[in-house]
Amino acid sequence: MASSCPAYEADIYADGGIEAPYEHYAAIRNAGPVVWLAAQQVHAMGRYKDVKAALLDHRTFLSGEGVALNDFTNGISRGTTLASDAPVHGTLRTIIGAPLRPEAVAILRDQIAEAAEALVLRLVRQKRFDGVVDFARFLPVSIISTLVGLPEEGRENMLDWAAATFNCLGPQNDRATAALPQLQAMLAYTVAGVGADNVRPGSWAAQIYDAADRGLVPKEQVPALLLDYLGPSLDTTIFATGHLLHLLGSNPAQWELLRADPALIPNAIEEAVRLESPIRGFSRVLSRDVELEGSKVAAGSRVLLLYASANRDEAKWAEPERFDIARANARDHLGFGIGRHGCAGQHLARLEMQCLMTSLVRHVSSFEVGAPVVQKNNVLRGFASLPVEITG
Ligand code: HEM
Repeated sequence: MASSCPAYEADIYADGGIEAPYEHYAAIRNAGPVVWLAAQQVHAMGRYKDVKAALLDHRTFLSGEGVALNDFTNGISRGTTLASDAPVHGTLRTIIGAPLRPEAVAILRDQIAEAAEALVLRLVRQKRFDGVVDFARFLPVSIISTLVGLPEEGRENMLDWAAATFNCLGPQNDRATAALPQLQAMLAYTVAGVGADNVRPGSWAAQIYDAADRGLVPKEQVPALLLDYLGPSLDTTIFATGHLLHLLGSNPAQWELLRADPALIPNAIEEAVRLESPIRGFSRVLSRDVELEGSKVAAGSRVLLLYASANRDEAKWAEPERFDIARANARDHLGFGIGRHGCAGQHLARLEMQCLMTSLVRHVSSFEVGAPVVQKNNVLRGFASLPVEITG
């Protein structure tokens, strides 16, 4: 299938497009409201106004046929909350979203704050550490994976499985093909390795089995709902935390501002998710023909919505490339999506980062960051490592 929309020839999923995506996003935004990604043979939108409108119009931009750019992943993700439409989506979202609601997350505040404080005190003594491995990964791996509640073997594999899942949510390129065995291992595990009798009582996984017992979802759908936690609950937050640390370390004036006024921490988190969005984009399938400024896209077409591009759109943001923790509209970003499918875990992600930053500004006066190493992934943007040295 071809398209009447302007074609964008470069492959944004090749190594270069993953390491340095922002010049591609600017070119996509300049080319028009909808472009044709020649390498993937799919439409894409990169402008803030259009991506936001699409995310809010869930009757036209459907998730039910999957949000990946390949048929295999779209096939296996059926039954997840992420890849469902109303009215089923509402039921699934109520089930998986229950422990992630603001009131439920607020109960975790003391536990997470205490763990963050102990971590920061330890790293302050250590002085040199890895901002991803030692800092950003700590809360997700020690606390969040326990809340999910998988047995030991599953817990140990969660990080690898999450990376594989996000690689497979992109196009069917070499990166996705290489990740496939891990994705299949994860799927097999959710069907055969985990069950109502071996998840941690009271955990998020346990309450999915409870919902099936109460007849809210068929029992066969439980493995799919587990995927809603296995994919996004760790890596996304780890990468957002790594970006925030890197941005503060590379912008000492912003760090000074944050130390002088810790009330800016919540806004600094939004600004980091805006500027370095951990999820670059997911796709939708059109339920009807759509026309945007003369560009026509037919019903049934798949359209990639580039949140990370929208978050740097110069038509929305003043000096979009600048990291400004006091930016008045930072919270308008689309890094957590928006609308019906807006991130179910965003309150938890924010809480984790708030606790880490609160302890960091309390105990660290200055720190330096070295060159980060990008972890190449089709959908996630983040660092595999980030050298940090506390200097005061
Ligand atoms: C900074 C961290 C995070 C970022 C940037 C992020 C980003 C996103 C985005 C962009 C979506 C929208 C998907 C769409 O439009 O189709 C989403 C959905 C979702 N996220 Fe997150 N996420 C984060 C953390 C988390 C955490 C910690 C959890 C779970 C504990 C989580 C669970 C989910 C779920 C279940 C969905 C699907 C919601 C639905 O389709 O109704 N996320 N996330």
